[in-house]
Amino acid sequence: MKFIEDINIDNKKVILRLDLNVTIKDGKILDNTKIVKSLKTINYLLDHNCKILIMSHLGKIKTIEDKLRNSLEIVSLELSKLLGQNVCFIPETRNILPSILDNHNICLMENTRFEDLDGKKESGNDLELAKYWASLGEVFINDAFGTTHRCHASNNGIAKFLESGYGYLIKEEIDGLSPIINNIKRPFTVIMGGAKVDDKIQLIKSLLNECDNLLVGGGIANTFLKAAGYNIGSSLYSADYVEEVKELLNTYSSKIVLPVDIVVNNNEVVSTISVKDMTDGSIYDLGNKTLQVYRDILDESETVFVNGTLGLYEDPRYKAGTEELFNILRRCNNIKIAGGGDAVASINTLGYQDAFNYLSTGGGATLEYIANKKLKCFEE
Ligand code: 3PG
Repeated sequence: MKFIEDINIDNKKVILRLDLNVTIKDGKILDNTKIVKSLKTINYLLDHNCKILIMSHLGKIKTIEDKLRNSLEIVSLELSKLLGQNVCFIPETRNILPSILDNHNICLMENTRFEDLDGKKESGNDLELAKYWASLGEVFINDAFGTTHRCHASNNGIAKFLESGYGYLIKEEIDGLSPIINNIKRPFTVIMGGAKVDDKIQLIKSLLNECDNLLVGGGIANTFLKAAGYNIGSSLYSADYVEEVKELLNTYSSKIVLPVDIVVNNNEVVSTISVKDMTDGSIYDLGNKTLQVYRDILDESETVFVNGTLGLYEDPRYKAGTEELFNILRRCNNIKIAGGGDAVASINTLGYQDAFNYLSTGGGATLEYIANKKLKCFEE
């Protein structure tokens, strides 16, 4: 795959795949980082007199209700604002006028995953769909780092039909993540938080082969504590994965580090207790003693990767664990990288950008890249 600068792109009609999958709440974009990070490639193309048709997914589309909730129109307005020029929004994924780019410099097509309602055509990498989308342009540039772990029609598929390359964001990600991909300085410690084990279990297994320590937090820690035989009261956990986690705890006992104390809400009384004393209520954060254990390991680590948050940081009662982790990392003189929407949002919200060497826009994509050292959409 070529880099954008190595393609003769002047005056071309370009299909540009971006990851504009931003979180939207009450009709507002909560964090526009992914859009801002896409501007460099867009501006490069505009400077080369290109006409641009942007494609992106937004959310996961399984029902009509998902479709109603996940239009990219609001993103086209934000993009217009950031670029200072009108981005024409195309409310369709089919039947687009072939001449659309003759009349507009820059267009954003509706959510590619709307095609999933009709037999998963986008996610199933339907080549008839990819060929149709490719027919709307002359060159394909993929700058959607966040979906490089997927082989979908709008990334892997289109590339089969057009001269293709990758953009500046993918280059920035490859460079920024290189300390945890090539010749990792060890010990290498991964901090894995977030709500659920479910969609991360395979990656946790692969990461355990790569890392020297795995420190757990968030809802993930609850499942690990349950698997280790602790009472977790009514805390959120992934019941279907307890057996698999038990196996991981046996196989990687020297790498996996569990919390020793936790912040529990029991009938609106919030207290910090030892994991051994848990009876009722729900776990929402990690306690000070755990943070001390984690700090000692982080002090000894050469490279650290953070994914997810340690507690429900959005609630001031449960942000101390996540905040203290960032304070520890700010003081550590090692390589520190974070990835994933929640981790990066918590870093931005709490103001700890300076504590990290690199913040990746990818969630699953970054984890898969660390685990498999490949960007799947370019491989097959
Ligand atoms: C992300 O937010 O991690 C990317 O946009 C990928 O989203 P997906 O997991 O729905 O493919």
